[in-house]
Amino acid sequence: MNTPEIPSFQLSNGNSIPGIGLGTWLAPPGEVGEAVVAALKEGYRHIDCALIYKNEAEVGQGIKRSGVPREEIFITSKLWNTFHPNAAESLRRSLEDLGTDYLDLYNGSNELLPVNPDGSRSVDRGWDMSKTWAQMEEILASGKVKAIGVCNWSVPYLEELKKTWRVKPVVNQVELHPSLPQHELVQWCKKEGILVEAYSPLGGSGAPIASDSEIVRIAKKHDVAPANILISFHVNQGVVPLVKSTSPSRLKSNFQIVNLDDEDLKTLNEFSKQPGKAKRYNTPLWGWDLGFSDWYERS
Ligand SMILES: NC(=O)c1ccc[n+]([C@@H]2O[C@H](COP(=O)([O-])OP(=O)(O)OC[C@H]3O[C@@H](n4cnc5c(N)ncnc54)[C@H](OP(=O)(O)O)[C@@H]3O)[C@@H](O)[C@H]2O)c1
Repeated sequence: MNTPEIPSFQLSNGNSIPGIGLGTWLAPPGEVGEAVVAALKEGYRHIDCALIYKNEAEVGQGIKRSGVPREEIFITSKLWNTFHPNAAESLRRSLEDLGTDYLDLYNGSNELLPVNPDGSRSVDRGWDMSKTWAQMEEILASGKVKAIGVCNWSVPYLEELKKTWRVKPVVNQVELHPSLPQHELVQWCKKEGILVEAYSPLGGSGAPIASDSEIVRIAKKHDVAPANILISFHVNQGVVPLVKSTSPSRLKSNFQIVNLDDEDLKTLNEFSKQPGKAKRYNTPLWGWDLGFSDWYERS
């Protein structure tokens, strides 16, 4: 088994970001703090958080308990959608809960989540996203965050934002894995110098893609677990996977990458073209109506 060091990648602001992040979504209370301690002991130095995960206080306690100095850890949090008119307040709550006076990265999302009385998604289409981004730029200038980025932004949204941004997002965090490779979006971001972060790299809850026979075949070839193939797929292509686990053994095994060869990468990049293999695991379908065109083409 060939297990190279986990690389770091450079952001457009000149800072570096560790090549694998620990995901904390759905990491339950009572477990997430221990998972953070275990991950930091294992060598992880990048933690992906969000106000909406409702566990940032316990993540912050885990960071303190680990004994790893704050400045050695890359911490991301995210503006929650209902705070678009008041980004500073969303940030204030995250900083307080995480027990830190700065973040390495603060990401803004592009949709609102409240529901209508009939249960359908209530999205304020009238909201001008450039107003949110202007607040993110102010937050950056305040020094409370070292970088600002976006989550779930498709190409048409990004093209629109580009008309008014003074600071471009350093990352775009989106669902990304062999069943949803979003080649067009990834290429667009690379061209702009925006680093892509892959969320749900294993397909989310229960890691459904890890049991696919083709992924298992590549894993056997490299003598690693299928999850390592799904994680390495991104790292090998300059994308940062955010992987959630609260299991000490999986935290350990996930923190291992392999060098995939051209044939493996071709298989993984073309995986979603096979009948029944294209799948988006997260809802709502972020950017559905305004982009994710390569997903559209297959639907
Ligand atoms: N910005 C956004 O809109 C957004 C949306 C979704 C996610 N995210 C971020 O991305 C992170 C990762 O995405 P995700 O949590 O949806 O899913 P994921 O990391 O693809 O998968 C997590 C699931 O896989 C299991 N798992 C982990 N390692 C495994 C392994 N080696 N073998 C088998 N199963 C394994 C985990 O269970 P155990 O814990 O029991 O190991 C959990 O059920 C999130 O935690 C969050 O930080 C961001």
